[in-house]
Amino acid sequence: MAELDNLISKLKTLGIEEPLKVFPGSNPVKNPFDIFRSYITEELGNVSGVSKDLIYPALEWTNTSDRGDLVIPIPRLRIKGAKPDVLAAEWADKFNKGKYIKDAIAKGPFIQFYFNPELLAQLVVKDVLTKKESYGSASLGEGKKVIVEFSSPNIAKPFHAGHLRSTIIGGFISNLHEVLGYDVVRLNYLGDWGKQFGVLGVGFKKYGSEELLESDPINHLFNVYVSINKDIEQEKETSADGTSAIDEEARTFFKQMTEGDEYALGLWKRFRGFSIERYKDTYARLNITYDSYSGESSISEEAMQEVSKLMTEKNLVVEDAGAKLVDLTKYNKKLGKAIIQKRDGTSLYLTRDIAGALDRYNKYKFDKMIYVIASQQDLHTAQFFKVLDLLEFDWAKNLQHINFGLVQGMSTRKGTVVFLDTILEETKEKMHEVMKKNEAKYAQIENPEEIADLVGISAIMIQDMSAKRINNYTFNMNRMFSFEGDTGPYLQYAHSRLRSVERNAATITPEDLLNADLSLLKEDCATELLRVISQYPDVILNAYRTSEPSTVVTYLFKLTHIVSSCYDILWVAGQEKELATARLALYSSARQTLNNGMRLLGLTPVNRM
Ligand code: ARG
Repeated sequence: MAELDNLISKLKTLGIEEPLKVFPGSNPVKNPFDIFRSYITEELGNVSGVSKDLIYPALEWTNTSDRGDLVIPIPRLRIKGAKPDVLAAEWADKFNKGKYIKDAIAKGPFIQFYFNPELLAQLVVKDVLTKKESYGSASLGEGKKVIVEFSSPNIAKPFHAGHLRSTIIGGFISNLHEVLGYDVVRLNYLGDWGKQFGVLGVGFKKYGSEELLESDPINHLFNVYVSINKDIEQEKETSADGTSAIDEEARTFFKQMTEGDEYALGLWKRFRGFSIERYKDTYARLNITYDSYSGESSISEEAMQEVSKLMTEKNLVVEDAGAKLVDLTKYNKKLGKAIIQKRDGTSLYLTRDIAGALDRYNKYKFDKMIYVIASQQDLHTAQFFKVLDLLEFDWAKNLQHINFGLVQGMSTRKGTVVFLDTILEETKEKMHEVMKKNEAKYAQIENPEEIADLVGISAIMIQDMSAKRINNYTFNMNRMFSFEGDTGPYLQYAHSRLRSVERNAATITPEDLLNADLSLLKEDCATELLRVISQYPDVILNAYRTSEPSTVVTYLFKLTHIVSSCYDILWVAGQEKELATARLALYSSARQTLNNGMRLLGLTPVNRM
């Protein structure tokens, strides 16, 4: 409340005497747009007599500023009898613009509202400069806990494009919830259990190297796995009955693991431990740290039992040739029949997910749990969500699957098998080459390797997040490194250029900026930039609604394009101090907004490049 009082007294100093009537649920303290929304709702409600509850949610954004800052389609107010364009004209005419609104113009069945740019400048620029990193944050998740499960690679198998996308998108989804005030638990659900670890255990005896396990666990374990599988294949081909002794041995090894055999379990623990250590370093390059590395191995026996007991009690299970399954076609044909236990009694990926969710609920009492998994597993996810729902866990409704499409053409120089580390190394090298081409600039960079790494990573991430999640895309090194077009390097360049504007005007102090005379920002370009900066908190909410990183990416390109078109018009260098200060305040708030958006996406903005 104190914050709202502050805002109201700030409005007073700007000459606005009448108290702001805050529409319930809107948040003018954190979101400048909500000040205008509340005001328009109040005034339009008064002129039209329409319920404010209908007006507020009908106020829409516009794509271009010539259509106003907010627009309302009158048909959305559901008024019987009257013609929308007649009403629009009448209400626009009577609308009390006060100090908030410069123009309210009827256009067909719409009313377009144009904010008073001077007021907008006063409300936004200093707000961003004071809130800094927290500009854009909101409190809708306060007191709530969300689990975000993402990345989840399989030990001893390649980290493929699906894992890469899960990592990138999941990192963003976690950050997004954090910015909205949620208590976020980042969880990595490793593929670390199953018969393949028996195969790996046996393989390690034959092909393993202690040294390599410690120095390069991920590649080494994969190589061991490939070699031993070749042996198994060969045995199967050459033996009379198509069996393999190694395969039998592997089965026994895994059985020993499940029975707690010290040697077998000890070896497996080391495979897992070393792999996680290595993954941690790689995730750190992407600004990701996990709260928990769980995995298929961590599902508790109790949860397995409970789930199985409940399924039987609720008569969900049918036997079919020794296997157990749940017939979900009754609820939805597409869900099919889900096998939950194989003939040999071993549990399955699906069953582990069912019990795993219960474990997590017991441990975290989450308000919401998100699984970031490729759309190839849509059916799997829908199945285990449905089973949990049939088991009548009331938290089952709080599970969310965030899916995504495929990446095509992702391979490395050495072959088609892809590891995360290799992808990052290759992009870094390639980026480094691109940077060297501009010799003069390159010479000025103190830490080119580090910059190449950060910009290279941005290239990968922006490529991934530019379109709707569900779309497939083709991994294209040439396109993603281009400085033209909407790429990661372009965003980094835009950020470093804004930094350079700030560096070149170092005589202007942060305090000067907070006291800048913003009424000097008269150019259209400045107004345009201000509007876009003020949209950022809304963009975050939109991204939350859609779970689409592209919502933020698209916005950041809009922001950087406008900034770049302002450079020719709004000079800072060589201007009188007052004017330079006002302009720098604008650029600085643009830079802060860009920085916040980039970090939200998981990028590390660079200061020079
Ligand atoms: N490890 C799995 C894979 O590589 C992904 C795990 C997704 N998460 C889950 N809860 N099933 O396919």
